[in-house]
Amino acid sequence: MRTVTLIQGDGIGPEIIDSVKEIFKAAKVPIQWEEENAGQTTYEASGELIPQSLVDSINANKVALKGPITTPVKGGFRSINVQLRQMFDLYQNLRPCKSTPGVNSRFDNVDLVLFRENTEGLYSGLEIYDARLEMADSIARITKEGSVRIIKAAFEYARRNGRKKVTLVHKANILKHIGKIFLDAGMEVAEDYPGIAVDDKIIDNMCMQLVIKPEQFDVVVTTNLFGDILSDLGAGLVGGLGLVSGANIGDEIAIFEAVHGSAPDIAGKNMANPTAIIRSALLLLNYLELNDYHDAINTALQATLANKDECTADLGGSAGTSEFTQNIIKKLK
Ligand code: NAI
Ligand code: MG
Repeated sequence: MRTVTLIQGDGIGPEIIDSVKEIFKAAKVPIQWEEENAGQTTYEASGELIPQSLVDSINANKVALKGPITTPVKGGFRSINVQLRQMFDLYQNLRPCKSTPGVNSRFDNVDLVLFRENTEGLYSGLEIYDARLEMADSIARITKEGSVRIIKAAFEYARRNGRKKVTLVHKANILKHIGKIFLDAGMEVAEDYPGIAVDDKIIDNMCMQLVIKPEQFDVVVTTNLFGDILSDLGAGLVGGLGLVSGANIGDEIAIFEAVHGSAPDIAGKNMANPTAIIRSALLLLNYLELNDYHDAINTALQATLANKDECTADLGGSAGTSEFTQNIIKKLK
């Protein structure tokens, strides 16, 4: 039995995390959850955003599943999500983006895997605010070392999974220094993988290409902000944020979470699609090499998604979060 830290999070977090708990229980997955929390709910209850007990739990268990956490735009605090990624040096943000058979979406032939650098770039947290001058600087720090390790992770993934091409996404035409460091790192790493093609795209063109012809992309690797934006764009190509999973991976610790946020507009209404967090939990099962459990749950999930009537409202169905969950459980073998 493996112990995994579980963070419910805010908004729709508790509802979709419940769905994973029920499915894992029904599938008899040999995992026991250690429940911790972080974010707005925790703050209101205890005055702490990231309790020490959560940090200790993640350090001990090395693996966590996390619901979304609300970050207020005004005032408030620095993103807990970004802080957790930096605290545990989870430099790889892996976000697969694949069409699902039977799901109504813009495209049915997308199969790309996005690697977003997760600790530096414009999200480094290096911000200087001058209230008197009403002026601010946000420093997008990019390092050679940070670029090499994320790009290497993307190429390694491509090699392990028989992928053919890695696309480096950047803005080196305007952001001369940070763009060059990232791009040079990419070309250097690519030399070690002669069997895998490499190309590069400027971020604005990349957005246009993705919307017109997404099937041309295979593995994509980019810096933090561009990766954040591209992953929501990618979600839009394959049926929406309710579907796409993610993993934050470091050399020793990994936190699995959906791409989407806490969706306050639908929270507490039994409306959220739990597929994205279920798929993140499936990535966790692969990570722990519990592949048979992964396959069993994935088969039941795919069969449910193929029938619109059994799905949640975002996919055109009429099932609530809990009914959708039961529809998956009924199909577990
Ligand atoms: P969001 O991803 O929460 O929601 C965007 C839209 O997608 C909303 O209309 C929402 O209802 C819909 N949506 C999202 N997930 C869904 C699901 N599972 N099923 C059905 N519909 C779904 O983004 P938004 O509204 O910009 O952010 C809300 C909060 O979440 C903010 O405080 C933000 O900082 C936080 N956030 C947290 C993340 C995390 O914990 N990793 C990631 C992104 C945002
Ligand atoms: Mg995002």
